[in-house]
Formats: sequence, structure tokens, C-alpha cells
Amino acid sequence: MPSFDARLDAVYSTEAGLFVDLNHCDQNYLKPGHRPGFFISGLRTQKLGLPMTVRHFLSTEDWSRDELQSVLNEARAFRDRSNKAKPMDGKSIALLFFNPSMRTRTSFELGAFQLGGHAVILQPGKDAWPIEFDLGGIMDGNAEEHVKEVAQVLSRYCDLIAVRAFPKFENWNEDRKDTVIKAFAKYATVPVINMETIVHPCQELAMMMALQDNLGTPDKKKFVLTWTWHPKPLNTAVANSALLIATKFGMDVTLLCPNKEYLLDERFMRAAQSNADTQGGSLTVSHDIDEAYDGAQFVYAKSWGALPYFGRWQDELPMREANRHFIVDGPKMALTDSALFSHCLPLRRNVKATDEVMDADYCVAIDEAENRLHVQKALMAQLISKQN
Ligand code: CP
Repeated sequence: MPSFDARLDAVYSTEAGLFVDLNHCDQNYLKPGHRPGFFISGLRTQKLGLPMTVRHFLSTEDWSRDELQSVLNEARAFRDRSNKAKPMDGKSIALLFFNPSMRTRTSFELGAFQLGGHAVILQPGKDAWPIEFDLGGIMDGNAEEHVKEVAQVLSRYCDLIAVRAFPKFENWNEDRKDTVIKAFAKYATVPVINMETIVHPCQELAMMMALQDNLGTPDKKKFVLTWTWHPKPLNTAVANSALLIATKFGMDVTLLCPNKEYLLDERFMRAAQSNADTQGGSLTVSHDIDEAYDGAQFVYAKSWGALPYFGRWQDELPMREANRHFIVDGPKMALTDSALFSHCLPLRRNVKATDEVMDADYCVAIDEAENRLHVQKALMAQLISKQN
């Protein structure tokens, strides 16, 4: 068991324990044979005044399937009220919204309340100071304070920090760095929860809870993630997340999109393939609507902008307009194996899915939305208990 100290900048919490970036670690603490990317559990960080581990929830990829299932199980206990615990009694969560929300804000605020805690809602740049994320610059622009101070100050007040920060939709190479939430995770000394950035892990859990409620064990069941038309280019976060969670739970996953321009970022495609390999499921890309819907047991819809067109959306428009027929409708659902349908919401009716689909018994979108409350309560309870 290694027992040396490392600088805060060099330590990240991961599924395997603490990850030490030895390129940025104080070289005096290295031992022969240590290499960048070395995983160390039980690393001593007391000199930094930190708890032994700060476990964040930034992506489901950082959590094992068993850990995610444990959150889902606890969510069910909160839902059926067999668990009436108040693990946030006297505790609080800061909810930072850089973008609008209805479900996420409501479910986190009420979830904290139902656990005996309190939520502080902040909208940087609106009701809180605009925040700088660049390092080492002269802050003579709009931002009044730096994320280094914001994250540390909120960590002194609150027991959890949650962040929603969408891409800027101008340059995917910049957006894919996920700068905002990574900075909070780096400088906060309490757990940070992702409320949607370039992934939406809380939505993933809510969807998987609805899926398991109806289909039981997900392994080898056919899951179709279909792109749909929308008048505006939207975030890929929910699509990335749907791919990650469905493959992580061993499903046979088909990504249906009009052409290769709508493929998701290679990072998520690779992670999904790796999940499928590990869990015994599969990942298939299809541009054929009939083939994709055939035999499906769960259809999940989402619209997103084509990544190569970030920052030049007028060029993407003709391609998007040519694919309005990807709407989820009754005839497509009739091709499935009596599939369930869901969507993260908000959803434009008769644009992404028809009234017929949204009002059908097989639509579980409202159940999924309710599940946001339960899974987030379970998540907050587990992260708080790890800190105690
Ligand atoms: N699904 C979801 O995150 O909804 P909001 O954008 O309303 O929070």
C-alpha cells in the first residue's frame, strides 16, 4: 500500500480508487516504477486537509455496474418509502445552473428537502457572479471571480455541489473538454454531481430504472437509440449517456441516425463498445429505420446536432431538414417487439414523437421523469454517506 502525499492538482477520484497523475505529482513523492496513470487506492491525503476520498458523480463511466445498480436499488427504496431516512439532515447542496432546467432543478431541490437537507440554487452570471475558468489569465472581462475560489468557498458552506453546464455549440473540440464541471471537481473538496454537461448521468439512471421496472434484467435486450429531427441543434449529452448506460447494462444497443455525420463523439462510441465487450452486449450503428426498429424492446429518442458542424449550423441545416421522417410514430413502433418508448423531456410533440406515441401505454417518459427524484435522492444519500 503506497503511503505518500500528492498535490491536490494531481489526484482524481475514480472507480478504481484515487488516480494520481504522476506528471503533475511532486516528484519527491514518487517511487521507482511509478508511471503516469498509476492507480493507487488508499492514498494518504491528510496533509491536504481532505477526506480520504472525494467521490464525484461526473459520468457513469467512473462507477461500476454494481455501484450504479446499488443506486437504483436505493432509489426504489426511496420510491416505495421502505427507506424513510433523512441522511441530509442539517446538510446542504449547491445547485449551479449555467443553463435552464425544469425537471433537474425541481427534482434536486425537492430531493434534498425530502432527505432533510437544503438546496441553494445559483445561476452564475444571473443571480450569482459570472465565473472565470481560464487559468493564469488577467480577469479583465465579464467574470468577477474564479472557479478556484467559487468551488472552495461552496465546499466550506455545502456538503455537495451539483453543476449544469451545457456545451457552447461553437467548437466541439473545446466543448468536449467539459471544462466547467472538471474545474469544479478539481477545486471542490466535497462531491460534485453532474446535472448535464456533455453527459447526463442522472438521466441515465432514471431511464435505466424505468427500463428495469418494465423489462427486468436488461442484458441482451434490444435497445434502440434513435436520432430525431428538431428545429435547433441540441446537446449530445443524453444520447451519449443513453449509449453508455445501455451498454453498461449488457444490452444489444443500436444507434440509429441519418448518416455518419450524426455519430456521437468517438470517446463515447469507444466507451460504449468497451462496455458492450465487457458486459456481453453489443453496439451496432444503423442508418436504416426499419432494420433498427425491428425487434426492439426499448426505443429511446433524442435529437442532437452533428458534431462536425458545430459553429456552422447553417451548413448542417439542409441535412437535418432532409431527415424529419426520423420522428417516432405508430408505424415505426409497430415494427418493434412491443417496445417501450421513452425520452428525457422536454419534448416537442409531433416533432420528435407523435401524440400517438407520447400518449400510448408503452410510453414511460413520465415514469422516467419521476425517477429523477428517486435516483438523485439515492445518489445524494450515497455520496453524503461516503463523506461521513
Ligand atoms: N431532462 C431534463 O434534464 O430536464 P430539464 O432540462 O428540464 O432539467
